[in-house]
Amino acid sequence: MAQRSAALKARGITPGLAVILVGDNPASQVYVRNKVKACEDSGLRSVLEKYEASLSETELLARIEALNQDPDIHGILVQLPLPGHLDTHKVIEAISPAKDVDGFHMASAGALLTGLPGFWPCTPHGCMKMLESIGYDLRGKHAVVIGRSNIVGKPMALMLLQQNATVTICHSATPDLKAMTLQADVIVAAVGKRHVLTADMVKPGAVVLDVGMNRDDNGKLCGDVDFAGVSQVASYITPVPGGVGPMTITMLLVNTLQAAENSLAA
Ligand code: GUN
Repeated sequence: MAQRSAALKARGITPGLAVILVGDNPASQVYVRNKVKACEDSGLRSVLEKYEASLSETELLARIEALNQDPDIHGILVQLPLPGHLDTHKVIEAISPAKDVDGFHMASAGALLTGLPGFWPCTPHGCMKMLESIGYDLRGKHAVVIGRSNIVGKPMALMLLQQNATVTICHSATPDLKAMTLQADVIVAAVGKRHVLTADMVKPGAVVLDVGMNRDDNGKLCGDVDFAGVSQVASYITPVPGGVGPMTITMLLVNTLQAAENSLAA
């Protein structure tokens, strides 16, 4: 990443990321702060725009359009969730696909679905990088994704499929989750609920990626997986905090760098 960043610098370009935060959701404030700090640490320029929860949709859409036109901004990120009066779909679709470093735009989702180049959502992409880092070959493996969100579950399943895994997506209406997870070589837990996955649900030696971000009874950050139990059974497991989260941020920086490189070629 440092090399690509230096190559851009040599051509007079500093990758620029605009981060928009609407309202005062405490978790979002932490996420946004971490993203801005990561940009600073990696030599990317970030612009944080904070707005009151009362910001109108028209104002937000106008701001996004201005950023779409700004040549110094290569990536635009609108932190979710948005306050209820704002139409999330409409807001995401207002971001230029060329600057959609979150990978949430329909054009990005369609590119992932069809295997064309485009920005991939950062969290599932980070999960794929973690599997790559341990040299895990997904071909012929059974991957079970718990959760079907547009941000994680659905794109995660597509990425695993692209690497030739057999993929099962489980969700709140899955009658027997344990029967599914016990068959899995790889489990990705992305529900947002504590202890969705416990040791009795995991085949010995399975790989477990925990995408959850929850608070336990003492207010401590924890994932969807019962880490203490599952780590006794799994061959590889990611902790929360410190597992997938930092990878998500890294992929955001990579996407922003990519967007800046693309702007040169355009
Ligand atoms: N809220 C939770 N995760 C994300 C993310 O990856 N991007 C944005 N924009 N909002 C989020």
